[in-house]
Amino acid sequence: MALKSTSGRYGTVAITIHWTTALLILALIILGLNAAGADTDATKRALLIPHIVLGLLTLALTLFRIIWWFFADKRPAELAGIPQLQSRIAATVHLLAYGFIIVLASSGIATNLIGGVIPALASGAPLPDLDDIAVRDVHALLARLFMALLAIHIGAALYHHFIRRDGLLARMGIGKLPH
Ligand code: HEM
Repeated sequence: MALKSTSGRYGTVAITIHWTTALLILALIILGLNAAGADTDATKRALLIPHIVLGLLTLALTLFRIIWWFFADKRPAELAGIPQLQSRIAATVHLLAYGFIIVLASSGIATNLIGGVIPALASGAPLPDLDDIAVRDVHALLARLFMALLAIHIGAALYHHFIRRDGLLARMGIGKLPH
């Protein structure tokens, strides 16, 4: 399979970034929700460290992904027979997903800077109370909206795969491309 995309399918780089990001986001949501609900300092610490590391990794991968699309690769052609409105909605959902990752990571970084989370994690001092930090509420709200967006994104992919059976998911490396 080629590194770059062709008119009929995504390339190895795009596919690898897509599924790696999907796994990272799943892990971030699980770690983030459990960190927010943790009732001991030790548990919160154990969940926040990987949350922060994976969050920064996701941001870096997303910035690389934007550069990759901009300078190196071109998306496959639209599938035949998709109404224009539907492909506009899909393009908007994809663009919003990039935006959400960037603002989620930025609000997470801001929460850390304002709350002094990383110095506390590094020194072993008790973690600060983050409840009074407004940007942490923004981070939590954005995460909820992002989950709703991801539900639409996943729902659309499943609709294409199981109902339209048009090979959309196969272009992203899952299943066989129709001939
Ligand atoms: C890019 C994807 C990210 C996603 C999807 C994500 C998701 C989440 C979620 C779902 C929560 C729980 C919110 C709540 O219910 O209160 C959370 C909390 C948090 N996140 Fe993130 N996050 C991301 C990136 C980051 C980054 C890059 C950092 C730091 C550099 C960060 C730092 C935090 C902190 C400090 C909390 C608060 C935990 C607490 O209240 O104890 N996040 N995140």
